[in-house]
Amino acid sequence: MSQIKLPDLSHYWVPFTANRQFKAMPRLFKAAKGNYYTSMDDRQILDGTAGLWCVPAGHGREEIATAVGKQLLTLDYAPAFQTSHPLAFEAATRLAEYMPAGLDRIFFTNSGSESADTALKIALAYHRVCGNPLRNKLIGRERGYHGVNFGGISVGGIAGNRKAFGNALNGVDHIRHPLDIANNAFTKGVPEDGGIALANEFEQRIMTLHDPSTIAALIVEPMQGSAGVIIPPKDYLKRLREICDKHGILLIFDEVITGFGRLGTQWGADYFDVIPDIITCAKGLTNGVVPMGAVAVKRDIYDAFMEKSPQEAIELPHGYTYSAIPIACAAAITTLDIFQKEKLEDRAAGLSDYFEQAAHSLKGLPMVKDIRNIGLVAGIEFEAKAGAFAFAVYLKCYELGLHVRYTGDIIAISPPLTIEKHEIDRIFNTLADAVKFVAGRGEAGLNANNYLKNEQQWAAN
Ligand SMILES: Cc1ncc(COP(=O)(O)O)c(C=O)c1O
Repeated sequence: MSQIKLPDLSHYWVPFTANRQFKAMPRLFKAAKGNYYTSMDDRQILDGTAGLWCVPAGHGREEIATAVGKQLLTLDYAPAFQTSHPLAFEAATRLAEYMPAGLDRIFFTNSGSESADTALKIALAYHRVCGNPLRNKLIGRERGYHGVNFGGISVGGIAGNRKAFGNALNGVDHIRHPLDIANNAFTKGVPEDGGIALANEFEQRIMTLHDPSTIAALIVEPMQGSAGVIIPPKDYLKRLREICDKHGILLIFDEVITGFGRLGTQWGADYFDVIPDIITCAKGLTNGVVPMGAVAVKRDIYDAFMEKSPQEAIELPHGYTYSAIPIACAAAITTLDIFQKEKLEDRAAGLSDYFEQAAHSLKGLPMVKDIRNIGLVAGIEFEAKAGAFAFAVYLKCYELGLHVRYTGDIIAISPPLTIEKHEIDRIFNTLADAVKFVAGRGEAGLNANNYLKNEQQWAAN
């Protein structure tokens, strides 16, 4: 084996990663093109996850690289407060045109986490500017993921992301998540039953515990991605919308994962035919290459700030040094051009039946407890092993040349929307091989040290 020189691994604190384990068997990519990564030992690794759900148009898009490079040499930076630059307005216009009708006022951030916190702050400030400062509670959902900032982990519903960080925000409550494996295991697409009753629990909860007039906003992901691909039952989101309307509560869709074609439509809002008051996005907005997020609000929310704030006042005292930096705007505009030209949403929709069949072909394999799918997303849930089985399957897939995402006892698949049918076959055939391999090894299969021999050798060198 040729010697591969690894960088010094000691200084970088790798996020959301078991650092000691990772540094003992690092997995480093050195290049990417199309639907493939290149590993340090020059293997082509099929990208089954579009990076971290963020590369819908495939890797190494030359149009984006050219636009970003040109922009860097034209205007590298313009102060984001009190001055701006034309591309910021162009990017906002283009994104507004891509949003569901009516959500056409855009605030730029640098990530999904910042988008979530920005949306929550806008919701609170909106009610205040409208003369309702006591409408100041926020409702999230169990197993919701809205990034890692304090607002996001407060409304988020993943204990592991919350427990180490104190008490976070006050005035937050949660509704139940919609996963119902007992009744809906192996459902293809959206589960049929239970949606209305589950959504009605939201109203019951706020009536009993809070009084709806104290609730500023409800934030939900149309499809919960990070906590394991949880697909809401039919009519659930529609009913949440009705309840929010009835009680004057803003409905926020966190579309960081579901935006930009992932479900075969531009937005999750389009897929479920429910228009929220605020949409947050990030990731696919720049095809993952420059950090950028955005919050789109209905025009009357923006107008309320403009009409009701004192003249000359800063209507929203909020923003980031890097809000709408020129290279992010260039990347976003070019990404939207690619979507327009290549109709990636339609491509995803056209592949979704094929993808569904392939995903559900894993039914009946050992340890497989549930398979869920929507658009170009699939979640394969295993019998509970505190994540050890899913992690071993993830490692085995990597060894076999496929990148998947594991989260708890679940493997999530979300390839670039440029994926081909033969690559979809390869994803699920490889995954099936990995599941059989790991299950066939019993307890030894769960030992991470039994995987990735090449990388372990590099680390030792
Ligand atoms: C729904 C949702 N919201 C927010 C985030 C956070 O985004 P970021 O990691 O860019 O802060 C994510 C990331 O996966 C997400 O899935």
